[in-house]
Amino acid sequence: MCGIVGYVGYREATDLLLEGLFRLEYRGYDSAGVAVLNGGEISVRKKAGRVHELAKLVDANPVHGCLGIGHTRWATHGETTDINSHPHVGGNGEVVLVHNGVIENYTSLRTFLQEHGFVFRTATDSEVIAHLISYHFTEQTEQGGDPKNSATAIKAVEATLKRLKGTYGLGIIFQEFPKMLIGARAGSPLVVGIGQGEYFLASDASPLVGYTEEVVYLSDHEMAILSPDSFELLHRDSGALSPSIQTIDQVAADVDLGDFEHYMLKEIFEQPQTIENAMRGRFDEDEATAKFGGLNLDPQQLRRIDRVVLTACGTSWHAGLVGEYLLEEFARIPTEVEYASELRYRNPPLTDNTMVFAITQSGETADTLAAMRECKRKGHPTLAICNVVGSTIAREADGGIYLHAGPEIGVASTKAFTSQVTVLTLLALYLGRMRHLSYPAGQRLIHQLKSMPEIIRKSLDCFETVKNVAQKYSEFSNFLYLGRLHNFPVALEGALKLKEISYIHAEGYPAAEMKHGPIALVDEVTPSVFVIPRGGIHPKVISNMEEVKARRGPVIAIACEGDTKVDNLADDIIRVPDVEEYLQPLVTAIPLQLLAYQIAVVRGCNVDRPRNLAKSVTVE
Ligand code: G6P
Repeated sequence: MCGIVGYVGYREATDLLLEGLFRLEYRGYDSAGVAVLNGGEISVRKKAGRVHELAKLVDANPVHGCLGIGHTRWATHGETTDINSHPHVGGNGEVVLVHNGVIENYTSLRTFLQEHGFVFRTATDSEVIAHLISYHFTEQTEQGGDPKNSATAIKAVEATLKRLKGTYGLGIIFQEFPKMLIGARAGSPLVVGIGQGEYFLASDASPLVGYTEEVVYLSDHEMAILSPDSFELLHRDSGALSPSIQTIDQVAADVDLGDFEHYMLKEIFEQPQTIENAMRGRFDEDEATAKFGGLNLDPQQLRRIDRVVLTACGTSWHAGLVGEYLLEEFARIPTEVEYASELRYRNPPLTDNTMVFAITQSGETADTLAAMRECKRKGHPTLAICNVVGSTIAREADGGIYLHAGPEIGVASTKAFTSQVTVLTLLALYLGRMRHLSYPAGQRLIHQLKSMPEIIRKSLDCFETVKNVAQKYSEFSNFLYLGRLHNFPVALEGALKLKEISYIHAEGYPAAEMKHGPIALVDEVTPSVFVIPRGGIHPKVISNMEEVKARRGPVIAIACEGDTKVDNLADDIIRVPDVEEYLQPLVTAIPLQLLAYQIAVVRGCNVDRPRNLAKSVTVE
């Protein structure tokens, strides 16, 4: 949600900033801008639209200098216009900044600043920060601070941050100080890249790849003061800190589209590999169980767990629902799946031995982070199932499991979902083997899991069939997605995928629940996508299908190879390999991802950058 990049050093800042913004564009793409200290003046270029629009603007009207900041926006306050784009200018241009986050008390601050003569040019909450720094800079100088000394500017920033309520990741530069870049964080991620005679600032490590391997992740209420040859880290309460330097995850560099038309398609086709990565080194075949390096809980603690809470948002929440079925089935541990946005403000009674798992691809989702912190504050072990190494949630969790899925660029999550489900299956095996699950049952599950990458490869063979189905249905405006048991969360996820990238209304439901409402929607122009692989419940879902057919609803079936029972009922059939019921979500998710993708392509939608969405939602 908004990407920030900053540079101070010896190179042309604009080139680096633009490259960084292209890499961060997944965080928001409503508008983009840069500000560069250009011969004693800060020059700002900003524009509504994608980063390539900004690049054209900068090409036509270049800015030169070795200090700069950039921003790619996901709008919260104020429309997506040129003027509301970042960077924002404070006072008379003495300070310029980029902001990621939401300032909750911006209305009162705006009134205060207007009363002190500040003129607002934009409808954003971020502009108040720029003016407030300017206000405090003047105040500092009136109290004897030297306006030519950078310490005065730093004090002005500190005074400003104390007055902000809400969240921020900030990149700040001053006209008077051509060698100083300030970064500050509360709630929104920020990382400093350490170079030789240069420093970088960014919302995540992706813009730094290829420039430096050494990074420092800022924590809340920390401020980084960067110059070409110095890095000072200050904490709001404890003052100067010594930075903890980490090595960047070079896997983050793998953002090449290859021969694929879109990242989403590339990521769908990566799933045989990403599922394998999620399992690599995590089987203990002698004990017929799974093993994890980073749970940081001893077997006694794990044995005592009597309840699991899985908390997440969006697609990760759907993976959590699959996890609930698996954990209850294999480990017999009561499991609940909570929307993080609800859990953070609820006060559910959690037993002493409740283990909380935050499930998140990005590791930055604001609600998931807040829910995790709330549970941690109450003393529960909080763990994370996370993809992005070094992300805030990964760092703040007591322990956890990485997905190792590589960067997911497409805004609609695909490979992260199947990796999350894979990791949750391993977790269910692991906790199950500590309890009721027998040795042979553990062995069988390991054997089946090991065959999954190859089975997923076969599932992708439905690509051409899905293309034809997508052509046929792309003009329909409402879809139902129906599935039962393990495939109910898959139905939810299929509907979400279609909504996200095709802008078609779709509802996911447990197939049998359909008769309690959604069936009223069924008519000739409302297709129902039935997720109906083989299993004990198959005949029941066939009956649900009959109910739709009786009302002349078109039926698309996701069914197993060789299942002839659907032949006379379904208008279109997409075949998938037959696997055990508890592994079906991994297989049945694939055609639904492809269906959403193909329908979006036929409709000419922006598959990787759907309107109004962002990959990493760092605001509430
Ligand atoms: C956004 C993304 C979704 C994602 C959700 C949760 O809404 O567009 O694809 O599922 O956030 O993100 P997380 O990174 O926490 O899994």
